[in-house]
Amino acid sequence: MRLVGVGVGPGDPDLVTVKAVRELRAADVVLVPVLAEMAEDEPGRAEATVRSHVADGRIRRVAFALNERDDRGRRESAWEAAGQVVAAEFAGGAQTVAFATIGDPNVYSTFTYLAATVRELVPAVEIDTVPGITAMQDLAARSGTVLCEGSETLALFPMTAGLAAFAEALEAFDTVVAYKGGRRMPEVLEVVRAAGRLGEAVFGASLGLPEEDIRPAAEVTGDAPYLSTLLVPTRRDSRGGKL
Ligand SMILES: C[S@@+](CC[C@H](N)C(=O)[O-])C[C@H]1O[C@@H](n2cnc3c(N)ncnc32)[C@H](O)[C@@H]1O
Repeated sequence: MRLVGVGVGPGDPDLVTVKAVRELRAADVVLVPVLAEMAEDEPGRAEATVRSHVADGRIRRVAFALNERDDRGRRESAWEAAGQVVAAEFAGGAQTVAFATIGDPNVYSTFTYLAATVRELVPAVEIDTVPGITAMQDLAARSGTVLCEGSETLALFPMTAGLAAFAEALEAFDTVVAYKGGRRMPEVLEVVRAAGRLGEAVFGASLGLPEEDIRPAAEVTGDAPYLSTLLVPTRRDSRGGKL
């Protein structure tokens, strides 16, 4: 029995690896996480990408609490229920269950929690992951932003770790990428402005989705969607300056 977490990229169905497509097509069942309160006909974030590569019959939706806004009790019962779905698939004869996750399965992904739950329920399970392209990489490509070169450092920062720690990261690292900041975007941008780095910063929301929005961070006002990424690239004065 094998559970494989497959990264399906940030939203554009073309940003999926050949290996991911192969794993998704070879699995007995492909689980796609959807928000618990999501309407029947509304596709989940990973689901739309999966549907463009996998035949309908093997796709199964599992309710997940996907936002950090959701309370811990609700999230944990969703992980538990999703783990039970996987265990039931194995009990029903499935050899390989794939779980599709946006971006990369080892970067702030719900797959980590699902894998831990399934390991408790089915100790013999083998767990694998297939890497995916992250929102950070897609936004860098789409906005023509070099993330790092030479000896420059690169930090990936979840805004759930707090604004004070974010200000410290802007001091300590060359390029800083902020995830999970949509709801607090005005405060996040204020911290970037105070660090004197707003001019270079790039904002990207709903990358690869119909409502995609990419623009200079200085032009962003108000709250932003959950799927928002902010790049704060280092300033470079000359080619290969920090080699
Ligand atoms: C729970 S994390 C998932 C990260 C994902 N596993 C990855 O590798 O990119 C969710 C955060 O990823 C970023 N993100 C993921 N997909 C995105 C997209 N299509 N557009 C913009 N940001 C996205 C946002 O910062 C969002 O708050």
